[in-house]
Amino acid sequence: MRKRAIASAASALALLLAIPAAAAEPTPGAPGIGDPYYPTYGNSGYRVSHYDLRLRYQPKTDALSGTATLLATATQDLSGFDLDFSLGVQDVRVDGHKAAFSEDPAAHKLRITPAKPLAKGSDVTIVVRYSGVPSKVVVNGFTAWQRTPDGAVAADEPESAWWWFPSNDHPSDKATFDVSVAVPDGTQAISNGLPATPSSQAGWTRYSWRQNKPQATYLATLAVGKFDITTGTTDGGVPVINAYSKDLGDNAAAARASVERTGEVIDWESSIFGRYPFDSVGGYVPNTTTHYALETQTRPYYSPADFAKGSNVSVVVHELAHQWFGDDVSLERWQDIWLNEGFASYAQWLWSEHVGEGTTQELADYVYSSHPANDPFWTVKPGDPGADKQFDAAVYDRGAEALQALRNTVGDKAFFSILRTWTATHAYGNARIADFQKLAEKISGKKLGDFFTTWLYTPARPATATAAKAGL
Ligand code: ARG
Ligand code: ZN
Repeated sequence: MRKRAIASAASALALLLAIPAAAAEPTPGAPGIGDPYYPTYGNSGYRVSHYDLRLRYQPKTDALSGTATLLATATQDLSGFDLDFSLGVQDVRVDGHKAAFSEDPAAHKLRITPAKPLAKGSDVTIVVRYSGVPSKVVVNGFTAWQRTPDGAVAADEPESAWWWFPSNDHPSDKATFDVSVAVPDGTQAISNGLPATPSSQAGWTRYSWRQNKPQATYLATLAVGKFDITTGTTDGGVPVINAYSKDLGDNAAAARASVERTGEVIDWESSIFGRYPFDSVGGYVPNTTTHYALETQTRPYYSPADFAKGSNVSVVVHELAHQWFGDDVSLERWQDIWLNEGFASYAQWLWSEHVGEGTTQELADYVYSSHPANDPFWTVKPGDPGADKQFDAAVYDRGAEALQALRNTVGDKAFFSILRTWTATHAYGNARIADFQKLAEKISGKKLGDFFTTWLYTPARPATATAAKAGL
C-alpha cells in the first residue's frame, strides 16, 4: 500500500517536471519589443550585447555595403527572430550556419530562421552581409539617411539604424559597438567613441571607432565626408575629438566657437550631474541642411543651421547633458521622453544662469507667461505626449519648467541630490518616469503624486507658474 503511494507520488512529480519541458517548444520572437508608441520597433526573443559593423561607403554613388556581426543572447527557446533593417541582404549566418531569411524593407524587418532552434539563454552570433543605397530606401515615407555634397550622415531619432545596420532597434536593448568604415582616400568616417589609427589600401582608407559602453541603437552615428578634426582633453582628462565639415561656409567660425567649448561644458556638467560616463567626447558638424541636433553618444551631431545666427553654446550644453540623460540613463519606452528632453533643456537654463544670462526661475516664468492658458501648448502632456508629439515644444519647455517647479518644491539640496542619485543609480541602464518620481519622493521625503500629475500628466496649464520656493 505504502509503496504504491510513493510510486504514484513519484510519477505525479515526474509529470509535473515533464510539463514545463514539453511546453518549451521553440517559438518565433515577436517583431516588436512592446513599446506602446512604436509597437513594431525592436523585437522580442533575444537581446544584443555587441554590434561589429565592417562597412564600405562610396559617396559618389551612395553605395553602402558590409557585414554586421551581432552578439546576442536568446531570451526564449527561439525558432526564428527579426532584426530591424531595410537595406538588401545577401546572406545571414547564425552560429556559423547559413540561415533562411526574408526581407520586408518597407516594414524595416529582416526575419531570420536559423537552421536549428536557439535554446533560451544561449549566446548567439548573427552575421548579416548586406548592401544598398540608403538614400533611396523609403520607409514610412522617408529616409533618415542624409547625403551631403561630400558624403553622408546617419543621425536621427527615433529611427536611424534601419538605413545602415541591422539591429534590435529600441533603446531598451543597449549594446557596445565597433564601427569600421572604408571610404575613398581623402574622405573620413566619424562615429562614436574612440578611433583606431586609420589604414589605407588600394585607394580606400578605413576608419575604426569603438564605443565600449552600452549604447542605444539610435545613438549610433556615422558621418562620412571631408572634415577638419580637432583634439584635446577636458580638465577631467576625457579625450575630446571634434569634427567640422570643410564645407560649412559662413557658419564655420560660429560652429567652432560653440563646439570647441565641449570640454568646458562637460567639466561643468560633471560638477552638477556626476562623473562623465563615457571615455571620450566631442561633436561633429557635417554639411547637412536639416535643422536639428542629436545627442549621438559621446559625439553629438550638430547641424550648420544651429550656428547660422552666431555661436550657440546652448545647443552644445543641451546635447552634452543628454550624455547623462538619455545616453547613460536611457528610456525603457519612448513615452518617457521627458526624462531626456526636459532634463537636457533644464541644463540649458542652468547654463544660462551660470554665464550670467537669465536665471532658471526667470526662464521658467517666461515659459509660463509666454503661453496663455488657452495656448494649445498646454494640451501636450510632457509625461505622455503621444508618438506624434514626442518632440513637441511642451516636452522641452514645460518639461524644463516642471524641473524648476520640482526644485522649488523639494529645495536645492534635495533637487541636485536627486539628479546625481538618478544618474548613479541607473548608469548604463534604462528607466521610467515612475522610477524618477519614486527616487524624488525618497530623497525629498515628500509625496509627489499630485505634483507629477499637475506638471507631466495634465493637458492644461498648471494653476500657478511654479510652487513657492521651499526656502531650503
Ligand atoms: N533629441 C534631439 C534633441 O533634442 C531631438 C531630435 C528630434 N528631431 C528629429 N528630426 N528627429 O536634441
Ligand atoms: Zn534633446
